[in-house]
Amino acid sequence: MQYKRILLKLSGEALMGERQYGIDPNRLKEYAQEIKQVIDKGVEVAIVIGGGNIFRGVAGASQGMDRVQGDHMGMLATCINGLALQSALEDQGIHTRLQTAIEIKEIAEPYIKRRANRHLEKGRVVIFGGGTGNPYFTTDTAAVLRAIEINADAILKGTRVDGIYTADPEKDKDAVKYENITFKDVIEKGLKVMDMTAFTLSEENKLPIIVFDMNTQGNLLKLVSGENIGTIVDN
Ligand code: GTP
Repeated sequence: MQYKRILLKLSGEALMGERQYGIDPNRLKEYAQEIKQVIDKGVEVAIVIGGGNIFRGVAGASQGMDRVQGDHMGMLATCINGLALQSALEDQGIHTRLQTAIEIKEIAEPYIKRRANRHLEKGRVVIFGGGTGNPYFTTDTAAVLRAIEINADAILKGTRVDGIYTADPEKDKDAVKYENITFKDVIEKGLKVMDMTAFTLSEENKLPIIVFDMNTQGNLLKLVSGENIGTIVDN
């Protein structure tokens, strides 16, 4: 395997599947099956999941809600998704632990880095809920932060598209995909991969980001096996 320990970032919206909001159990099951394939190969998997399928702090703020209040609701939404993903993974026979950045001890373990590492060493999937635990930070930033803390080899950002393009491939037919690109080029070209806080944190810590299509079966395994099916961003 090319990667021994990965941080998989999944968007909350991806869990909606064909729905307008909430969680599609079929999509959840598909993701759990994808993750099982790499666990079976001995890869250590940590996951950060977004909450946009339930609530987005920014959207709440744009409708007049206090931003901090909105972000707190968003953090809880990521915990709900984390619990759903935990169940789906357990249905596949995978051992999991959910750790949250905000304490909800009756429901999940609090985030403790050393403990997360131990779980990973034992082959358990660790899901990090609650984002960074702070308002004004995205779950992409949480993903990068946790990936650095647990010393992940790379952050795998699962999306609907199979990589980073010269333009939005869903809008521009002439858009061309990058196989590899540097952090510097992403910034210079104004490409959108992650928000700048997340992105620069990754760059400063020399943590590669791989953008790939999580909705195609077998892709996650191909990626960790070393096949470049997405776009790799590194220094
Ligand atoms: P090892 O010591 O490596 O075996 O890890 P472990 O997680 O199995 O140890 P522990 O005995 O501490 O945990 C047993 C179960 O309790 C696991 O399912 C944990 O996720 C859960 N657990 C541990 N701490 C907490 C907590 O603070 N809150 C909640 N809700 N569950 C917890």
